[in-house]
Amino acid sequence: MSDLFVSRDHVLQGGYFHSTLRKLQEPDTSIEPHNIMYPIFLLENDDAVQPVSSMPNVYRYGINQLIPALTELVEKGLKSILIFGIIDTLPKDATGSNADSASNPVIRALPRLRAAFPSLLLTTDVCLCPYTSHGHCGVLTPSGAIDHAASVARIAEVALAYAKAGAHVVAPSDMMDNRIKAIKDALIANKLENQVSLLSYSCKFASSLYGPFRDTMKSSPMEGDRKCYQLPPGSAGLAARAAARDVAEGADFLMVKPGLPYLDVVRRTKDQFPNHPLFIYQVSGEYAMIAKCGDSGEVAATLMETLVCMRRAGADCIITYFAPLVLSIINKK
Ligand code: PBG
Ligand code: ZN
Repeated sequence: MSDLFVSRDHVLQGGYFHSTLRKLQEPDTSIEPHNIMYPIFLLENDDAVQPVSSMPNVYRYGINQLIPALTELVEKGLKSILIFGIIDTLPKDATGSNADSASNPVIRALPRLRAAFPSLLLTTDVCLCPYTSHGHCGVLTPSGAIDHAASVARIAEVALAYAKAGAHVVAPSDMMDNRIKAIKDALIANKLENQVSLLSYSCKFASSLYGPFRDTMKSSPMEGDRKCYQLPPGSAGLAARAAARDVAEGADFLMVKPGLPYLDVVRRTKDQFPNHPLFIYQVSGEYAMIAKCGDSGEVAATLMETLVCMRRAGADCIITYFAPLVLSIINKK
């Protein structure tokens, strides 16, 4: 007997030589339709459909084009979407008035989506940046700093408008301190707290991986950056404090964003709050990298490996532009 044979505990391969055994070795990492949320870019022009040049196979849709596109996906098992509104002829102003005006594409589309897809979960991103003239996620003071109180009040107003228009979940992505409490208070004051939940972009980092998204949304800040409200990429400490704050203020769900470079934060957040379902956002830059990683087989394999690793790290739901591809892959199995 060689010295290499130290202990029976070191003989591992007998535990995973068969594919069914391998499944048992990967608990809680299955990818089912309810583990996936699909981000949608919704245009102001109801009949338009436009490809996104920096994201292969991603389109922006007006509502009349979106409904047929979603019909096919819902038949394939799609369970939830995250809606981003885009305006191009409606004016942008200092407070983002068109985020919740009657002509806002999200406000107009929600009743139609509720009617067309009675069991699809409708989540709306809540932010001011697609609607403000300066492109920041909050309201600014005359000197150009974030006006905190005004920002939080305005973001709560927009969230409430989406809730009233039919959103099941409102998801503030602005990262202003205390907006979770303001939104929860607004929902309670309007007796919507039992019908609308609050998904906080709680741990959102100031990342370079949002580039394709900002092109698509035309939502880059005109001046400056978002480093005074989004988290510094190296800070796990601020991420933990942000998650704790949002839980204390009434968030139903937490999120880590971006995804892949931040899996340590996913694990810490899940361990910190095991009773709150955790979302992870595979952002536009991650999408572009995987989409360009090889032929269609390599893309599919890399994608599914990435999603399994996100589940292993502790994510319950993955927001991904690859949702249509994921559904075709898991339907084939
Ligand atoms: C803005 C917002 C961003 C994303 C979602 N909401 C970008 C940003 O903060 O600049 C990023 C999504 C992506 O890159 O896929 N509130
Ligand atoms: Zn924003």
